[in-house]
Amino acid sequence: MTTKLRLAVNKHYELRGQYIDLAFRKELEDVLFSCTSSSHALLKELTRPRRNLPLLRLVGLQAYQLVSFFPRYIGSLYHHCDIAYYRKRLAIRLYEEETGILSGTANHEVLMLRFLRALGISDAERDEVPVLLSTQNLIDYRWQLVNSPDTFHSGVAAIMIASEGQYLEEETHRGRHVLLPMLYGLKPEDLAFFSVHTREDVFHVREGLDLTAEICLTREQKDQALQAVCETDDYFSRYYDGILEAYESSHSTNVATQNSEYMRDVCAC
Ligand SMILES: [Fe+2]
Repeated sequence: MTTKLRLAVNKHYELRGQYIDLAFRKELEDVLFSCTSSSHALLKELTRPRRNLPLLRLVGLQAYQLVSFFPRYIGSLYHHCDIAYYRKRLAIRLYEEETGILSGTANHEVLMLRFLRALGISDAERDEVPVLLSTQNLIDYRWQLVNSPDTFHSGVAAIMIASEGQYLEEETHRGRHVLLPMLYGLKPEDLAFFSVHTREDVFHVREGLDLTAEICLTREQKDQALQAVCETDDYFSRYYDGILEAYESSHSTNVATQNSEYMRDVCAC
């Protein structure tokens, strides 16, 4: 941790530390670390040193759906947040999401578009690809939580803990920053979306744990926030399942088409 960052963290705890329920924060952290979607077969496949462009394109296209919706979660959390300190933090987050100025990059959706284009996906192709049901379910589940003041605490847990805590694993970072350039010839600018989030997600999760541990005052609210972390993780698992199923069905269709073309050629001989 840099000196500047350490000072910022110290200042944060100086201002908010007295309000944070540390025992509950630990409960949240334990549930996050027990989540299983980060070891999903799809993510494992992407960390193998084996080129699979069709699968990576499918992952990119569905991930784009999540990325393009993400600023609205932050905007809604800002809208429902009663604590001025965190409201300001969420406003800064939204500013970065929409402009990329703080990270010296660009709007985060634009960063994801650069990644898709580097994979050879045109804007027209991106717009034509249907959103998988499991992708839509993940989007909708989190949206209904952040969209009501009654479930604000669960919304914070779903977005700032479970969602931003999805890609903290070392293996996943290695997959992105070592394998993607090696296997697909991607340049650092094509991967800017991932570099920015590798740096930011750790701090966003930390802030999400603090905020949730500050606003959950009753046991019922605490249980609801813990449940939101687990359920979001389940929705992520089903989102990965959906991508794998779509890949396998398009793969088997391609194989079947190739086989029938082969048989046609053989019969025509
Ligand atoms: Fe982002």
